[in-house]
Amino acid sequence: MRSWNFYAGPATLPLAALERAQQEFIEWEGTGMSVMETSHRSPEYDAVHNEAISLLTELLGLDDDQQVLFIQGGASSQFAMLPMNFIPAGGSADYINTGTWSQKAINEANIVAKCRVAGGSEADGFTRVPKADELDLDPNAAYVHLTSNNTIKGTQFIDFPDTGDVPLVADMSSDILWRPIDATKFGMLYAGAQKNIGPSGVCIVIVRKSWIEKANSAIPTMLRYATHSSKNSLYNTPPSFSIYMVRNVLRWVMDNGGLAGMETRNRAKAERLYKVFEASGGFYRSPVEVASRSYMNVVFRLPTEELEAQFVKEGKANKMFGLKGHRSVGGCRASIYNAMEPEGVEVLAQFMEEFARTNG
Ligand SMILES: Cc1ncc(COP(=O)(O)O)c(C=O)c1O
Repeated sequence: MRSWNFYAGPATLPLAALERAQQEFIEWEGTGMSVMETSHRSPEYDAVHNEAISLLTELLGLDDDQQVLFIQGGASSQFAMLPMNFIPAGGSADYINTGTWSQKAINEANIVAKCRVAGGSEADGFTRVPKADELDLDPNAAYVHLTSNNTIKGTQFIDFPDTGDVPLVADMSSDILWRPIDATKFGMLYAGAQKNIGPSGVCIVIVRKSWIEKANSAIPTMLRYATHSSKNSLYNTPPSFSIYMVRNVLRWVMDNGGLAGMETRNRAKAERLYKVFEASGGFYRSPVEVASRSYMNVVFRLPTEELEAQFVKEGKANKMFGLKGHRSVGGCRASIYNAMEPEGVEVLAQFMEEFARTNG
C-alpha cells in the first residue's frame, strides 16, 4: 500500500505516471530496452523529449518566442546562470526577497554581477509576500526576479507585479503548473522538477529566444542558455529518465483537466486544511498572513514543540510521511502539490481533527 507523502521535494508523483514507468521499465516502445538504456540521439528518445516540450508549451500556453529547456544542476544552478547570462557589464538586476530561496538567488547574483533588493518581507519574518505597490523597481534593471512560492515559509504570490519593459523572472520550483497563468508575461521561468513536475535531475527553464540572443557570451559553454537553446537541450547527454518521467507527469496533468483541473483540486485541498486550522480553536496556527498563504506548502504550528514532534511521529505511524517543517523554521508542513490526491488531504485533515481533540 502506498503512503500519503507530504514531503516538500522530492515529492509524491501521480500513480499513473509511476505505473506507466513500471510497465515500460524493462521494455519500452518496442525497443526491448529501457528508456534509461537508450541513446539520447535515437528517434525513440527524441519523441519523448519533444513530447515533454510540446506538453509544457500547450499547458502553459507559451508563445513562439518562448522555449522550453531541460538543464541539469537543479534550480540552484539557475541562481547563477541567470545573472551570468543576463546582467550586462556594469548593469544590475532587481530581486524580491521572500526568504531562503530568494536569498540564495541574491547571493549567487552578487557573486557574478550586481543586484539590488527591490522589496521583500524580511521585516515580517517572511510571513507574507509584498504587494506590488511596496516594490521599488528600477526601470533600468536587467530583469526582476521573484520566487513564486516559498516552499519553506509557505507563502505564495497569487498576483505577479507588472514590471513593464523589464523582463520578469520567476523561480517556480514549488508551484509550476499549479494553476493556469499567463506565462507569456515572463522573460524566464524555471523550476527544479522534483516537486510539481517529476523526479529530481532536471530543471525546467522557459526562456525567451529573443532574450537569449542578447545574452552575455563570455561564459563557459554549458552555462550559456544559447548552448542549450540551439541544440534543443541535447548539446550533451540530458537526464533522459527524468525527462521521460516529466513527460509521464505532464500526460497525467493533461488527462486530469489540464491546469484548470489542477487549480480546482489544489484550491479544494488547501482550503480543507486551512478550515481545520480555523475550527481548531487555536490548536493549529498558521504563521502566514491569510492573503499570502500557499496552496502548495501548508505550514503550521501546534501549541508546543513536543506536540509537534508527537504529531509528526503519529502521522508517520499512520502512513503520512514528511509532515515535519523545514529544519530552518521548525513546526509542521504538509506539501500538497498537484499529485497529492484529495483523498490524502482528507485523511490528513481527519487525523489533525482527531489529534487536536485528543491533545487540545
Ligand atoms: C523555491 C525553490 N527554489 C529552489 C530550490 C532549489 O532547488 P534544487 O534543489 O533543484 O537546486 C528549492 C528546493 O527546495 C525551492 O523550493
